[in-house]
Amino acid sequence: MSVSTTIHLSEFALAVAKGLGDPTQKKIPPRYFYDDLGSALFEAITLLAEYGLTRADERVLRRFAAELPALGTHVSSVAELGSGSGRKTEMILRALADMNPQLTYRPIDVSQAALNICQSELSGICRIEPVCADWSDGLKYVSQRREVNSPLLLLFLGSSIGNIDREEIDEFLTGLRSSLRSGDLMLIGADLVKDRELMLAAYDDPTGVTAAFNLNLLGRMNRELDAQFDLRSFAHEVRWNQDARRIEMHLLSCRQQTVPVGALDASFEFQAGETIWTESSHKFTIEEFEDFAHASGFTQLANWVDDAWPFAEVLWEAG
Ligand code: AVI
Repeated sequence: MSVSTTIHLSEFALAVAKGLGDPTQKKIPPRYFYDDLGSALFEAITLLAEYGLTRADERVLRRFAAELPALGTHVSSVAELGSGSGRKTEMILRALADMNPQLTYRPIDVSQAALNICQSELSGICRIEPVCADWSDGLKYVSQRREVNSPLLLLFLGSSIGNIDREEIDEFLTGLRSSLRSGDLMLIGADLVKDRELMLAAYDDPTGVTAAFNLNLLGRMNRELDAQFDLRSFAHEVRWNQDARRIEMHLLSCRQQTVPVGALDASFEFQAGETIWTESSHKFTIEEFEDFAHASGFTQLANWVDDAWPFAEVLWEAG
């Protein structure tokens, strides 16, 4: 395979060139799932009976929001990494806006469409200043604009932390810490290890919505990179990796095939049974979060766990 990079290639094209060119294991980072169709499919996933994460997250957040007045926080600004639909954030914003009418919410997302939905759903509660940027740049921007003398609450919900490789979590969290001030708060939602069959079904629903979400990555390459993937020649595959405690999603090539990618002026060979690794969703134990907090400059103040679907919300303070 040879890839011509003399013309301007998008970040997506570069990631595809690197990931499909990997001789050991083809892979594409999960952030590329979320074009408009992928984002809509993810919203559909959150409604699936098998995908208990979102409903558990919402139940635990309701408990957290109810305890906010007792926690006595004087938060005047809330930032969120990945704004989503805003459904979950609403409960927290309402509780905080009751205590502080000057509250500002700054959702950070690469998708302007997601930010627009979020703004229209939440604008009646407090001032909203959407930030269209990746998480790291967005948080740096927010930290320059935030109010100086009261703590910021940073939200990282929905177990998005699970999509980061475990070995990279300390570095990622330390990076977030460097954009925060001492006394700032961070609330993290994380899916916990549970029955293997439940975890597998959450990522391999019989309706086929998660399969469509996964296969859409090939469709996105066809649409945006002039690729010629035959989506019917690939299958959605889900594995539980016990040692790494994570669900892995793959796209399995059902036959030997060569796929041209026009934007890269390159073709990629697939053996029958070979896969593209598209996502890892790590599952945690509650104890791990004490260690993550310690390693990245935070102190854990509290945690809440859902009884029906083991899912945790942990509240940290920047040291
Ligand atoms: C966004 N993220 C936390 C989801 C997860 O569970 O890892 C993405 C997802 N992938 C398949 N289903 C949902």
